[in-house]
Amino acid sequence: MSADKRADKHLEVIGPAELYERDKVPSMFLPLALFFLEHLPIAQGAAVLDVACGTGIVARLISEHIGNKGSVVGVDISPDMITVAHKQTPPGAPLTWHIGNVTTMPFLADNTFDWVVCQQGFQFFQDKPAALREMYRVLKPGGRLAMIIWRSVSEESQPYQWAKVEALKKHVSVDAGENQRSLVPFYDGSEDDLQMLLSKAGFNAINIHNGFFEMRRGTPEEFITEEDYARLEPLIRTAVVSDIREAMQPFQTKGGTLVPYGFHIAQGNK
Ligand SMILES: C[S@@+](CC[C@H](N)C(=O)[O-])C[C@H]1O[C@@H](n2cnc3c(N)ncnc32)[C@H](O)[C@@H]1O
Repeated sequence: MSADKRADKHLEVIGPAELYERDKVPSMFLPLALFFLEHLPIAQGAAVLDVACGTGIVARLISEHIGNKGSVVGVDISPDMITVAHKQTPPGAPLTWHIGNVTTMPFLADNTFDWVVCQQGFQFFQDKPAALREMYRVLKPGGRLAMIIWRSVSEESQPYQWAKVEALKKHVSVDAGENQRSLVPFYDGSEDDLQMLLSKAGFNAINIHNGFFEMRRGTPEEFITEEDYARLEPLIRTAVVSDIREAMQPFQTKGGTLVPYGFHIAQGNK
């Protein structure tokens, strides 16, 4: 087999879920999960549900922490994500996986979990009130929901995404900028919307904590490349890339660029 054919064969077997686990988890979702879990006093022996678990990074970290008397269930709508989650499960870990939509989880009984956690899933849920009602249903009385969610795109909360949107608006078109904004997986509501949604689903002791998670990248020249904008005409591409790099200058440190991503951590009790 030629080198090209072998490379093609390799590409065939790496699907989006495997790529997510290989690339996105170590660079983004593992550091974010470690940060998120620092905020959650999950006790040894707890029963935990991880919704929109993806390939299972949050569930795996929790399972290491809670010991064998605890248990973690992961649910995700994507069969491919769950297949990778199965493959990544260490032997004997107290982890089980389900393919399912968070808005209807008939395979989970009422009043089952001490915690329901969700890392960067909420913004994808089509029917957010139904998702919250279902998460509430499966929590034990006194159990706690905790979700970490990227805040909406504004200059203050998501400066990197904002710079992309603005550069495309300026050099390409308003539509191109708005398209960019709609592509990115950020929550489009406000803190007050979140508070109201949790409250309507029945949660009490609601707490919404806003902050920034800093992703360490190289210099702006290293992580904002012309290749990322290859679809644009060369002159326009150069102008777009140059504007975005300039917008990231204030976040440069000696150890690279600390790109801030604004988040909400939304919590509530049943
Ligand atoms: C950005 S990924 C986050 C995955 C994981 N929580 C992590 O931190 O790596 C978002 C996940 O939400 C899942 N998802 C989207 N809508 C869903 C729904 N209605 N029910 C369950 N999972 C959903 C997707 O399949 C995807 O795996």
